[in-house]
Amino acid sequence: MKQCQFGCIESKTDRNRVLELHSGTQVLQVSLCGESVIRLRYHGLGRFDSPAAAATGLPPLLVKEAVPLPVQWLETPTGWKLQGNGLKVNITIERDPFALTVADSEGKVLLCQAGAGAYRQQGSRGSATWRWDGGPIVGLGEKIGSLDKRGKRLVLWNTDEVPHLPNTDPLYQSIPWLLSRHWGLFVHNSHRTKWDLGQTQPEELVIEADGGPLDQWIFLGEGPQDVLTQWLEWVGKMFLPPLWALGHHQSRYSYHPQSRVIEVAQTLREKHIPCDVIHLDIDHMDGHRDFTWDSREFPDPDGMNKELHDLGYHVVGIVDPGVKQDETYAVCADGLAEGVFCSKETGEVFVGDVWPGPALFPDFACLRVREWWGEQQAKHLAHGLDGIWNDMNEPSVFNVPGKTFPPDVRHGEEAELTHAEIHNRYGSLMSQAACEGLQKFAPEKRPFVLTRAGFAGVQRHAAVWLGDNSSWWCHLAEAVSMCLNMGLSGVPFVGTDIGGFLEDSEKQLLVRWIQLGIFTPFCRNHSNINTRAQEPWAFDKETENIYRQALEWRYRLLPTFYTLFEEASRTGNPIMRALLLEFPDDEVAWRINDEFLLGKDCLVAPVLQKGARERLVYLPAGTWQERTTGKIFTGPAHVVVGADLAQIPMLLREGAILALGCGGEFTRPELLSVETLEVYAQAPFEQETSFYADAGEGYAYQAGEYRRLIVRGSFDGQTLTLKAEQKGNWAPQERLQVEIHWRGTVSRQEWVLAEEFTDLAPKVLLSYDEENAGPSFT
Ligand code: GLC
Repeated sequence: MKQCQFGCIESKTDRNRVLELHSGTQVLQVSLCGESVIRLRYHGLGRFDSPAAAATGLPPLLVKEAVPLPVQWLETPTGWKLQGNGLKVNITIERDPFALTVADSEGKVLLCQAGAGAYRQQGSRGSATWRWDGGPIVGLGEKIGSLDKRGKRLVLWNTDEVPHLPNTDPLYQSIPWLLSRHWGLFVHNSHRTKWDLGQTQPEELVIEADGGPLDQWIFLGEGPQDVLTQWLEWVGKMFLPPLWALGHHQSRYSYHPQSRVIEVAQTLREKHIPCDVIHLDIDHMDGHRDFTWDSREFPDPDGMNKELHDLGYHVVGIVDPGVKQDETYAVCADGLAEGVFCSKETGEVFVGDVWPGPALFPDFACLRVREWWGEQQAKHLAHGLDGIWNDMNEPSVFNVPGKTFPPDVRHGEEAELTHAEIHNRYGSLMSQAACEGLQKFAPEKRPFVLTRAGFAGVQRHAAVWLGDNSSWWCHLAEAVSMCLNMGLSGVPFVGTDIGGFLEDSEKQLLVRWIQLGIFTPFCRNHSNINTRAQEPWAFDKETENIYRQALEWRYRLLPTFYTLFEEASRTGNPIMRALLLEFPDDEVAWRINDEFLLGKDCLVAPVLQKGARERLVYLPAGTWQERTTGKIFTGPAHVVVGADLAQIPMLLREGAILALGCGGEFTRPELLSVETLEVYAQAPFEQETSFYADAGEGYAYQAGEYRRLIVRGSFDGQTLTLKAEQKGNWAPQERLQVEIHWRGTVSRQEWVLAEEFTDLAPKVLLSYDEENAGPSFT
């Protein structure tokens, strides 16, 4: 096997604004695709035109075309450098021995590579070695364990693996993206990649790809939030989902027959447990055939779905990629006639075993096949389903080594793509096909697709749940860091199976899980066949009551949640946010895996240990007020807060403004109206925040049918002033309650907002009276 290393640069060319460096057969292309975006492409044989890039039906991974900036490389006695002219990066390249340094505009070195080992090619496998500034690194998508990935060796190759143990890797989602304090690194390569994050050599980062060029994108920025947003300009951001998708989802493998589905839905309503969505797992199908209904157990799906809709529910049905091999089944017969299924090198259609037994798999790498699959979704829409749940799309195959397609499966119209290259993208491509089908056949609605497998950019088409966890306390704890890490990898709409999927749940675990689950953007209770029931009422009254209370809280928080979803769709900023994003200079914040922020000022510290009735919480700098007790803490500090079984520790930073609606048992646009603004005034602040609302469905918001209630507040320790302004054409708020939370006391006042959208006169709401040592309204 041919092996080469990038020792010294023998020649260079400047081609279309790209600096091309040669060392034997090896080529390294360096260009700037933005003021702070560096692209470095390496291939040992100079092969940059990968089949994927040439394939016509395969959608590009990037949503923007890479156009190199016109930059001047200065020749130095030993190489080249790029600096100045308003650029936010400095790059220095040494010719012999090869070295490359990436620094910020002030010259602070963030990443560098040196010597022969910087780039290597061995057969089809290429690798790059970097030294970094030593700071913490997060990212790579769905990974078990702490957020900071230093010292680990991780693999990106979508895999259906159960149960998830502390060393299980890889899992269902692969996102080749690392994020550090001032830089991010994206490897635009969908082959299996290995990431040695200082495991072999403490200071070294080694990235190895099984095939294709190593197309590396480096983003520099002021902090991790800025870096993340810059990257998402290239791989795309989450779409704004329909409001109902933010509600509580109830699921089980499987609710059947249809009377049982109705019974579950009715029980939730009878018990006043807020819920918006019922999921139908594989037993609704006729012998696990996609897009069919079991006529014995589900004799009237239209009637059932109508009944659910009348009860205020939306219905999501599962769809697996494996189409049962049965020529009497229309989807299979039609698919065979249309030639939509993946074949092997020999041309013979690939057959793999999944839930329906032997099955055929659509080749989602082809545009024609995605369109064909999109049309199949229309069958579900016609029966009244509202959303699609895509599972087993790693793709997962039972009873074979590697649990997936064999390497000789081909993809693409001309079978020009290997499975090795498409594997990690298969789940995302399937979700794209489903999403585009929903958009085509229900154009007035916003699509909702849920997926298990995905790759970078999956958020453009689907929400993600993290697969088959277990009803274990350690998995409750994992849920926090895994959801946070997905957010840091560009996927804000994420959640885990509440209560745990495998194994039997228990009442305290279910309580603590829903208390976390109400803060995960995707909030669904789901459990495996033959496990103990874990619906909210499955244990005792106490559990049921606490479960209900937690959900009531989420539904009251919908104005805040929806605002964060809208923000995520514009900036990619996670909804459930790791502390490190808001406090990037706080080293401790980078180590916090068990608490998070809802938005920027509201810290949630869920209880993750059995029996715990208090919790150690890390508070970054600021003055924090515990919501229920009004206790004040000053950060940075570790503090202990009480956490009785019904309690979810929440602490609000000074200036935090929480918007609460009226709540309800299922979502409606009225639930987005701000009923109460909770303002946390324990210490002086200046704040500007806004709350977003629209119809919660459809696209009128894109034509201005939305409302943004902008609230500006300032408190100098004595006087608190609030100002509001409304923008957009959608139903303006007329009045709301303001609640000032001031060191344990709460003062309430009604605030009448002008009907027209003008900047309102500031309103003095609180003045601190030294004599009474307390606040009083003016
Ligand atoms: C997979 C899914 C799980 C689902 C089951 C049956 O294990 O991850 O959520 O319930 O298949 O469809």
